[in-house]
Amino acid sequence: MTGATSLDHTPAARGTVLVTGGGGRLGRSVVTGLAEAGYEVVSVDRDRAPEGVFPADVIQEAADLLTDGEPFRIIQAHRPDAVIHLAAIAVPFSAPEEVIFNTNSRLAFTVLQAATELGVGKIITASSPTVLGYGAPSGWLPPAFPLTETTPPRPWNAYALSKYLAEQIMEMFTISHGERSRYAAFRPCFVISPEEWLGAPTQQGHTVEERLADPSLAAPALFNYVDARDVSDFLDVLLQKMGSIPNGQTFFVGAGDSLATEPLADLLPRFIANSGPLTESLTGTRPAFSVDKAHRLLGWAPRRSWRSELQPSGPDSLSFATPSTLDIAAELATASRGNQVNP
Ligand SMILES: NC(=O)c1ccc[n+]([C@@H]2O[C@H](COP(=O)([O-])OP(=O)(O)OC[C@H]3O[C@@H](n4cnc5c(N)ncnc54)[C@H](O)[C@@H]3O)[C@@H](O)[C@H]2O)c1
Repeated sequence: MTGATSLDHTPAARGTVLVTGGGGRLGRSVVTGLAEAGYEVVSVDRDRAPEGVFPADVIQEAADLLTDGEPFRIIQAHRPDAVIHLAAIAVPFSAPEEVIFNTNSRLAFTVLQAATELGVGKIITASSPTVLGYGAPSGWLPPAFPLTETTPPRPWNAYALSKYLAEQIMEMFTISHGERSRYAAFRPCFVISPEEWLGAPTQQGHTVEERLADPSLAAPALFNYVDARDVSDFLDVLLQKMGSIPNGQTFFVGAGDSLATEPLADLLPRFIANSGPLTESLTGTRPAFSVDKAHRLLGWAPRRSWRSELQPSGPDSLSFATPSTLDIAAELATASRGNQVNP
């Protein structure tokens, strides 16, 4: 272990949160955001993050959570008030299918099991929008757009299946131990970290600007995205409110608009056969994924948009509209209203 120990200073005002996968693309923003919000944060990852990545008081544990007993040992050592499980192989087909399935499902089960057995009060696991099954080689059409938490999952690869299983594991522990601990899962859209707005490559290797310029790059994810800091804000709100909402909920966490320069009503039918009649409501900047459930149950809404965050790379870059903050707020409010559907 590195950094301070959980025993040598007073607990932070909001309690201790242990984040697995804290050194990852999403984890770095979550660890930093929660530390800045007043939590004591323990980041667990295979490798220690370089100096300066996290605020100085973040505790780092370097450990392989696939090793027998490690999740239990580490959670027991820190006795956190909450566990947020992010560690996973996060990219579909980035490893053999059975490796992705074995890794992600084992990590989800053993981390949630250890947290449950140790009586952690709040236990959250990362899922993914891919559980819905878009992009399936056999074809895919949802019952309706925008997509919500009630859209039927139809995973078609090991990654999506492992994330669906993580949700089921969360639900299983809710059923067996929900009288003692609070559980939730969340499905972050395509995560964009702060440095990626400045031109660093995204999870898929291209830049955000390239993703906007070529719709075929964002189409496989249905033009979804979310700023990693908005995910951190969501988790902060979830941690504060999960004691007062029904136990075992799953939430989409996405931006209030789409990662596209054209309305999805025009774009999606070009990429998804026969989707035209279903996408008519996705006018203006409306995204394919609704975050209305998180807004309704938690009062959370995304605050950041590519329109406010992206730094165009130079004079030859796309001529992005740079609306004022007020314009962006109005667009997000419109998008949010347009997505209000039943959970
Ligand atoms: N990035 C996205 O767009 C996105 C979208 C939907 C869901 N998610 C989910 O969010 C979570 C975080 O994604 P990310 O993009 O930050 O991924 P990432 O690959 O950047 O980070 C995952 C982290 O988990 C760690 N890890 C993996 N196996 C481990 C092990 N055995 N022991 C200890 N640490 C281990 C890795 O070292 C890495 O730092 C994942 O569960 C992913 O499935 C991400």
